[in-house]
Amino acid sequence: MNRREFISWVGVGWLASSLLVVITACSSEAPTASRPRGFQQVGTLAELQTGQILVTQGLGKNPVLIVPNPKNSNMPVAVNPTCTHAVCRVGWQVDLKVFVCPCHGCKFDLAGKVVKGPAAKPLTTYEAKIEDNQVLVKPG
Ligand code: FES
Repeated sequence: MNRREFISWVGVGWLASSLLVVITACSSEAPTASRPRGFQQVGTLAELQTGQILVTQGLGKNPVLIVPNPKNSNMPVAVNPTCTHAVCRVGWQVDLKVFVCPCHGCKFDLAGKVVKGPAAKPLTTYEAKIEDNQVLVKPG
């Protein structure tokens, strides 16, 4: 191997090792990039398991209340907690598995449907899921 060939091989080796560093650095960003469009992280699975996550800013114009789904642990329930009767904020009653309004006693089920009035309209619901132990919501 002459001097020119040696320098050429060293250059190829340096280039290959540099590419490996770049590819490794980019792969650490992969979890964020792989999320479907429109979903935003609102907390961790551990936080959700403490009872609920309430997000009042950063998910559009409405607050979002996220609670565990007793029917599917990978698909939490996310609703706009603003009562459709007179805009009080509903709370999650874990033992009854309903959202309850403290103002006039409305109750809404996991799908947001009214199960007890006086509200006539359901709560707005959002898509939510668990991915990599993160709670993701697709705000409306
Ligand atoms: S504001 Fe919720 S029941 Fe009236």
